[in-house]
Amino acid sequence: MGATVEAEVRNLVTQIPHSDGGVLAAEQFYAHVPVDGLPGRMPHFYRWRSEDGFAADVLSAATAMPSTRDAMGPFRFTMMGDQGTDDTPLLPPGLVRGVYDDSYYKPDNDPAVSHTDNVLNQIIASRPDFHVLAGDIAYADASGFGKPATFMPSAANPPTGFDKFNPYVWDVYFGSIEASASTTPWMFATGNHDMEAAYPTHGYGGHLARLDFPRNGPAACPSVYSFTYGNVAVLSLDANDVSYEIRTNTGYSAGTQNTWVERTLAAHRANPDIDFIVCFFHHCAYSTTAAHASDGGVRAAWCRLFDRYQVDIVLQGHNHVFERTDPIRADAPTTVGADNAIVYPDTDGTVYYTVGCAGRPRYNFQTGELGKLPRKCTRRHLRSRQLRLDSPRSQTGRGRQLVAGAVQQLCLHPCRCTPRGRSSAKWTWWPSTNTAGNSTNSPTVARSACDSPASHCRSAARRRSRPSSAD
Ligand SMILES: [Fe+2]
Repeated sequence: MGATVEAEVRNLVTQIPHSDGGVLAAEQFYAHVPVDGLPGRMPHFYRWRSEDGFAADVLSAATAMPSTRDAMGPFRFTMMGDQGTDDTPLLPPGLVRGVYDDSYYKPDNDPAVSHTDNVLNQIIASRPDFHVLAGDIAYADASGFGKPATFMPSAANPPTGFDKFNPYVWDVYFGSIEASASTTPWMFATGNHDMEAAYPTHGYGGHLARLDFPRNGPAACPSVYSFTYGNVAVLSLDANDVSYEIRTNTGYSAGTQNTWVERTLAAHRANPDIDFIVCFFHHCAYSTTAAHASDGGVRAAWCRLFDRYQVDIVLQGHNHVFERTDPIRADAPTTVGADNAIVYPDTDGTVYYTVGCAGRPRYNFQTGELGKLPRKCTRRHLRSRQLRLDSPRSQTGRGRQLVAGAVQQLCLHPCRCTPRGRSSAKWTWWPSTNTAGNSTNSPTVARSACDSPASHCRSAARRRSRPSSAD
């Protein structure tokens, strides 16, 4: 402390049809206080005061690690997607659980457990330098199609052409993440549930009032940006712009995002102070789940760029599971990336993670085409696993190294995993056609087995669970 900065208060007005025939109107206020000009890794303390005499607790945060060789050191960041909230909004009055929160668990999702709180507690315990959220943030838009908003208090489906929306979900959401976000930077990408058509600018007007994006990306895309932290460059991309699956915002940037992605990747790869490039976004380029599966639009737009500029890891959400690919280049795995294997991204390719298990009910995996079904495991994996990036300076040998994190060990929901051993299968991708209706590609990707003891799979298999469907 030692200085006072006046807050910018952004008010956000929402007016949407109510299923009772009236209008749901809300006015919300969001205070933003930029504190600029501090040196790198500078701890600072702050608290909020308001004119009516309220003074918040004193909290601390720190600025980013500079991206210069003489200032670099080890650090940790955390990541997940598809969060939502455990608690039901108090407004408008009378809402029941399970409509605008994560409490619509299937029987095998253990409704007694607060999934979102569990994940948040693990983020806090990890003491990350920053946290990234790969879209589907609060789920105020419960439908996730980016259609015009309507408020419905019930679990019934909205009328054709509308999404269910409740702006007060954001009040619950910000309260739920405050224990971490008040001290740790949360960096957001936007998913399909973040296309809030109650607001202008492609459904992103609400986010511009509620959140602060770095805004160094293309002007049309508020959630597209880049930052560096030590020797790592991070890009947040907006897959709504390129998705073949949910096309409400497909093409909204008129190609400016893709141009920016190429230019930014080239600049980071040419920067001698940057070793690793991490991209995070919502829809999956590669995933083997049975729900949203993989998006040919993402692959068509970006995967060649990831190959060309040797992106080290891609972090995705959208599918409510945890899985990891082998390193991929040109839509094919290049080598076996078993758990804890060392991958050399500059020659082996990019490793893609799907981590859409921040709180929403989990999805199933596809069965593949091997004729041998993966076993379903219902054990709850509560230990987080770390992906380690080692810079060239810390290793002898071949340059950038990535120690692959364990497959299906970060999932906080029951998961389906293969028996011990490896499964290499040709999976069905979503969708397999491009915008012109032509077949694009149908890559083959291996999914490694769960590394839990075989007894775990056997005991888990005895606990039968019902199949789930996508939300
Ligand atoms: Fe999603």
